[in-house]
Amino acid sequence: MDSVGSISRLLRSYSTARPDNPPLIGVETVTTERQVQLVPMLVGGEPTLAKAGGTITVGNPAHRNRPIAEVPRALAEDVDAAVQTAHHAFQSWRRVTPRERGRIMLRIADAMDAGFEEIAVLIATETGNALAPQSRPEAKGTAEVFRYFGGVAGELKGETVPLGEDLLVYTRREPIGVVGGIIPWNSPVLLGALKIAMSITAGNTLVLKAAEDAPLAVLRMGQVCNEYLPAGVLNVLTGYGEEAGAALAVHPLVRKLSFTGSTEIGKSIMHAAADRIVPVSLELGGKSPVVVYPDSDNDTVVQGVVAGMRFTRQGQSCTAGSRLFLHESIHDSFLEKLVAKLQTLKVGDPLDESTDMGSLINQKQFDRVCNYIEDGMGQSGAEIVLGGMPPQDGPLTEGWYVTPTVITRATNDWRVAREEIFGPVLVVVPWSGEEEVIRMANDSHYGLAAYVWCQNIKQALNAAHQIDSGWIQVNRGLGQIPGHSYGGFKMSGMGREFSLEGMLDSFTQRKSVTVNLA
Ligand code: NAI
Ligand code: MG
Repeated sequence: MDSVGSISRLLRSYSTARPDNPPLIGVETVTTERQVQLVPMLVGGEPTLAKAGGTITVGNPAHRNRPIAEVPRALAEDVDAAVQTAHHAFQSWRRVTPRERGRIMLRIADAMDAGFEEIAVLIATETGNALAPQSRPEAKGTAEVFRYFGGVAGELKGETVPLGEDLLVYTRREPIGVVGGIIPWNSPVLLGALKIAMSITAGNTLVLKAAEDAPLAVLRMGQVCNEYLPAGVLNVLTGYGEEAGAALAVHPLVRKLSFTGSTEIGKSIMHAAADRIVPVSLELGGKSPVVVYPDSDNDTVVQGVVAGMRFTRQGQSCTAGSRLFLHESIHDSFLEKLVAKLQTLKVGDPLDESTDMGSLINQKQFDRVCNYIEDGMGQSGAEIVLGGMPPQDGPLTEGWYVTPTVITRATNDWRVAREEIFGPVLVVVPWSGEEEVIRMANDSHYGLAAYVWCQNIKQALNAAHQIDSGWIQVNRGLGQIPGHSYGGFKMSGMGREFSLEGMLDSFTQRKSVTVNLA
């Protein structure tokens, strides 16, 4: 598929999707030196370019980042304009009733349902995540995020406190103000939708900075949202982290920061928040343990472990179950089935419907993942049961492809067992005693997700309760569902999102009112 041609058509269709939509600046008129479309940012409901005129090239990782579009390179002055606009819009948006805000979310959900395929193709093209197993489900699932928060909007309620007949004490859940949201590229639309739905349903306004590697589908979603939201409630910026992201984190009118990305940048966001006493939610990295008990040596569990490792997203997921603890008694037979299953995965063009696994996002991540594979292979005692360094020739060298890799006989102190690889590399550590495996599972600076595979439910729940992670799945390997609070223990983050409680805790502030009735 000619990705530049098809993306150009898709981007051009932005302005013709609705007859009453004004044409976007750039989409119809601006072509760049590279002959790709310049897709504007969204500020105050208007397509907007960077004041200084800079742009960032967005590439297709399946073709070594061959340019597919350009987006504005927002600098501090652009961030300031967006935040001022959001601050202005907040004054009226906060007064829109929660149920009305919820109704708008429901309309956005329907529009996202109607337009998911276009967004799916954009995600696949800019991220390298294969269409059928990954990008399409992400685009489809996004409507559910808007629908969930739209549905619970009426639950933004406070409490009354029983202090006797002479006192009326009640609390209100008030919005905080302008939220600065920063998202990564690995599932950009879903993560963007979360920030949008939670911030805006709660009555805040939002300046969302998309990841420089994957801004196109997020911009498209922003356009869809802006058809229903008053101008300035949602603003979507494109730019580099150290420029636009950093400027957003320190802007004095941003009253709440919500960040998803690396632990390293999460720390700098928290420092910036500390200087202004701004609440912050951080969804950071993980090295999630997967504990397989001797009674779970079967194909269903193998399938679940493959799903949990997020192989169809090339392992580029914060919840990837990337440390597999296999009971010694089933080590060989389980790995045999696992390898057989992984060998059936077709790695290649993300836009091909039959592809199971696409390309990593960029060369930096590719080099990083290769470095980890090399490091793991070099450990004494390491057994590489599948994969290894990526192929040196053939069609897979056209993109940043890494094939499924499984390293076993690892110990929990190896670098590949401690650090987040963010690639399709599964590290296997054999275990024999239950106490020992729980200790190893918890011997990590991360604590985002965990997986327990065990038919004995008493034993399984006992393990689930002892593992230090914000989210534990028992006999399930799939993704988050709107409604359950999600977030990390330890260096995997702070705050919870994805649920009504998460929205209340992270995106509203409680005000108490004490009234003397005596
Ligand atoms: P990153 O954390 O640098 O980028 C995530 C977002 O933060 C992007 O929008 C980026 O523009 C922004 N950002 C970067 N520097 C910033 C700064 N100084 N101030 C404000 N915003 C900033 O992640 P990156 O570099 O793309 O990936 C590196 C590693 O991070 C990965 O290998 C992976 O281990 C981890 N990661 C974890 C994610 C998760 O979902 N937990 C998502 C993406 C990356
Ligand atoms: Mg970075």
